[in-house]
Amino acid sequence: MIHGVKNVPVKSNPLEDQGKMPLFEALVHYAKQDVTPFDVPGHKMGAQLDPLKEVLGDMAMRMDVNSMKELDLLSHPQTVIKEAQELAAKAFGADHAYFLVNGTTIGILAMMMAVCKPEDTLLVPRNAHKSVMEGIVLSGARPVFIQPEIDYHFGISHNVSVANVKRTLEEHPETKALLVTYPTYFGTMNDLTEICRIAHEKNVTVIVDGAHGAHLGFMPDEMTDPMSAGADAVTVSMHKTGGSLTQSSLLLINQDRIPAKMIQKVLNMLQTTSANYLLMSSLDVARRELVLHGKQRYRELKTVVEEAIKAIESGSRYEVLKADYVKDQFHQSYDWTKLVIRVNGIGLTGFEVYRLLKEKYGVQMELAEGYVIMGVISGSDTKESIDRLVFALREIEKSFGKNDVLMSTQVIADQVNELVLCPRDAFYREQESIAIEDAVGRISADTLMIYPPGIPLVIPGERISEDVVRQYHYYEDTFGNVLTETKEANHITVIKENA
Ligand SMILES: Cc1ncc(COP(=O)(O)O)c(C=O)c1O
Repeated sequence: MIHGVKNVPVKSNPLEDQGKMPLFEALVHYAKQDVTPFDVPGHKMGAQLDPLKEVLGDMAMRMDVNSMKELDLLSHPQTVIKEAQELAAKAFGADHAYFLVNGTTIGILAMMMAVCKPEDTLLVPRNAHKSVMEGIVLSGARPVFIQPEIDYHFGISHNVSVANVKRTLEEHPETKALLVTYPTYFGTMNDLTEICRIAHEKNVTVIVDGAHGAHLGFMPDEMTDPMSAGADAVTVSMHKTGGSLTQSSLLLINQDRIPAKMIQKVLNMLQTTSANYLLMSSLDVARRELVLHGKQRYRELKTVVEEAIKAIESGSRYEVLKADYVKDQFHQSYDWTKLVIRVNGIGLTGFEVYRLLKEKYGVQMELAEGYVIMGVISGSDTKESIDRLVFALREIEKSFGKNDVLMSTQVIADQVNELVLCPRDAFYREQESIAIEDAVGRISADTLMIYPPGIPLVIPGERISEDVVRQYHYYEDTFGNVLTETKEANHITVIKENA
């Protein structure tokens, strides 16, 4: 069965259509023709890009083309892009799907701008990605932040609780929309079906940052994906876990509360007029792969991952985040394709183990935090790739492990920053750069964060607390690179006083 029954037409074999790749096929057909290009791109099928052509191959160059009649136009899709988007919509159980060529970032901005007018109230988890914070500035929405559940044992935050969402909705009856991150970067999922029900009862639109959940509807475990849960709009990074090329994402909508016309209009404001065909056609290919083979592949992988978790934990001081723990402690569900490994038991920070894995064993993890490292398992993984990680972890414990468990009170921020100004107002105020040591009490015009995961310690409009400064130093000391908007070391941009 194709995921999301709602829009699947009654046909003898709905998978038949999902075998098609209209955009990819049209692009390959064009690239194989004997065409003399007098249109852009000016590299003219790679004529002056020999080193790149040598590595990527002639076809990759010939497929990097601009819009034309037979290849359709992303901003006004009529033929092959339209068909490819319709297939994606069916595969994900949405009324409409839109191809994105600037990642989920652009989808988040578009969803927020299509739903919120300036001054509309938007509920947002405080551990949302920076693109959400930027969407708040662009849309002019008034954010009300919801604190996520904090996990002191693993030193990370999980999803916001249903009770917290419910309470915040009751406290803010003027709410226009609610944004949910689902799943979180670390793979936790709240009861989105219940959240959608509560929100819709109050006529609140639910938009979802599904950056890390493109695969959810194609898992054998029947994990609830945002469209099935009843979300009004979701953007998924197909390039993160859906198998397409980096930067390609999908925006999906159920149009009961969100007019398709408005989404297209906002996307046309935000996206390039020269959408990359390699990226778009990779969405067509990855969608087909997920629908046709996703369940089988994830079923096989699950057994491999379960065995790997046993091997990582057996006789070691590592601990892996698991569904039962997340359910018991936080009443949330868990996506097992995120391998969150608590490593502070061997006396090292996540950042140290992350570096050792890369430098000594050639293993590139997705990210690290004070106590954990995190790896993303995708349909492209194999027993061999996962075994390599397991082997490296065991070697690291043997060769570099220390006797004491490493604990720090700075690993997780659990203080709520005071929001003094609307982020959009802060953005337009006069600003200055000052030493971070002198910034306590000032209103930030900056976004401090480490990337990944890109979750800000402070955002424009929030008061800088002692805790923020302490966290800044913690990340500088352990991770080494806190991103700020100012170029001067250990400085932060703040709102000018009395300006
Ligand atoms: C939770 C979350 N949302 C949104 C994004 C943005 O996605 P993209 O990189 O596809 O623009 C990211 C990227 O890391 C993310 O982690």
